[in-house]
Amino acid sequence: MTLLRLIFSCLFIALFASVHPVSAQETAPEPVDRSATGGAQTLEDILARQRGEAVDDTFRRENTGNPLENNNLSAPLGGVSDPEIWRALRYGTADVSSTSQTPGSTLLVQDGGMAWLKWRQGPLLTYGGYALLIMLGLLVLFYLLRGKIMIEAGPSDTRIERFKPVERFGHWLLAGSFILLGLTGLITLFGRKGLIPWMGHDTYATIALAGKWIHNNVAWAFMLGLIMVFVMWVARNIPHRRDLVWIIKAGGLLSKHSHPPAGKFNAGQKLIFWGTIVLGASISVSGLALLFPFEIPMFAKTFGILNSLGAPGWVGMAPLPEVLTPHQEMQFAQGWHAIMAFAMMVMIIAHIYIGSVGMEGAFDAMGDGQVDLNWAKEHHSVWVEEVQSKASRSGASTPAE
Ligand code: HEM
Repeated sequence: MTLLRLIFSCLFIALFASVHPVSAQETAPEPVDRSATGGAQTLEDILARQRGEAVDDTFRRENTGNPLENNNLSAPLGGVSDPEIWRALRYGTADVSSTSQTPGSTLLVQDGGMAWLKWRQGPLLTYGGYALLIMLGLLVLFYLLRGKIMIEAGPSDTRIERFKPVERFGHWLLAGSFILLGLTGLITLFGRKGLIPWMGHDTYATIALAGKWIHNNVAWAFMLGLIMVFVMWVARNIPHRRDLVWIIKAGGLLSKHSHPPAGKFNAGQKLIFWGTIVLGASISVSGLALLFPFEIPMFAKTFGILNSLGAPGWVGMAPLPEVLTPHQEMQFAQGWHAIMAFAMMVMIIAHIYIGSVGMEGAFDAMGDGQVDLNWAKEHHSVWVEEVQSKASRSGASTPAE
């Protein structure tokens, strides 16, 4: 459990470091002499901020005056500029009231939006896109070097049941919805930079509108498929000692005539299973936070837990922020949702390859649910023995699970 928590924390922090501009890599700002401006910001502060450097703004943040004196919000607009009021609004200490009672409605100024937008249109889009292309390239390379993995003993004339109809339904519900969500998500992310210059605003607007509707509604099918797959297959995906041998031999995928023993699911598939469950659950929860804006804040709390474990220190980072505005919570939810989705797409592309063009006989398992006996013996020898002994005990002629 502790190990699991450790792995999660490391993954989280490593990813967080790429999302959030505040990290230990930023050098601690030098103390600045602000006596010439009477304690207000200096030209140096402004220039440093424009260069994207970290500016210690406590001299302003902690100097927003008496909130009672900052309450002059009913003064006519366009009148005298009141720096006291604007500073109080900027740092969230002004006494603002609103008829709307939704979270975030009294927050009039927050400055996380620009950093979030730049990150979304910059590193997220670039590295995410490259990750997908690199995985596609690796699979093409693997296909060219290794070729299609064939049934070495050749197809037999016996087929055995591998997945029941309900299992295949759960799989295709998950797979179909994931593909729709992945495509519509990418359309949203790559719209401004990749699609609008190519197809124009009007066409893109129609596609984006349909894509958003699909994305928001198909999400429920994905969550249902994820739950079904988890319930149906979790028992078969508990790690086993033989999985280590499978991993050491890389599943025999790299060399011919060497098939390490495997149960119903081999170690590679168990990794795909747990990857699907962990990433899928993470995408679902952050997706729900986006679907119900401001209603499911969870990042400030999570950061608090990570800080109490001392997790940021492990990767040389400063403690994570434990107070976030509702809007920052949403920005983190979007960032996390997208990172997890890219990770899952990269993983699933490899899965789709091996389950279709990459391996002779594999698709049948999710096609009509029946696989060739020789294929099963080569890739899931322990499972075949189990199925056969069960069949002989029950006197059935066709081995089936
Ligand atoms: C066109 C796309 C896909 C194809 C052709 C495909 C094919 C397959 C096949 C043939 C199996 C059974 C392997 C066996 O018999 O041992 C399988 C299992 C599985 N699939 Fe898919 N799949 C696709 C998409 C997806 C997607 C999008 C997801 C998740 C979002 C997914 C998740 C799983 C999981 C968790 C398993 C069980 C573990 C494993 O066998 O790796 N699949 N898939």
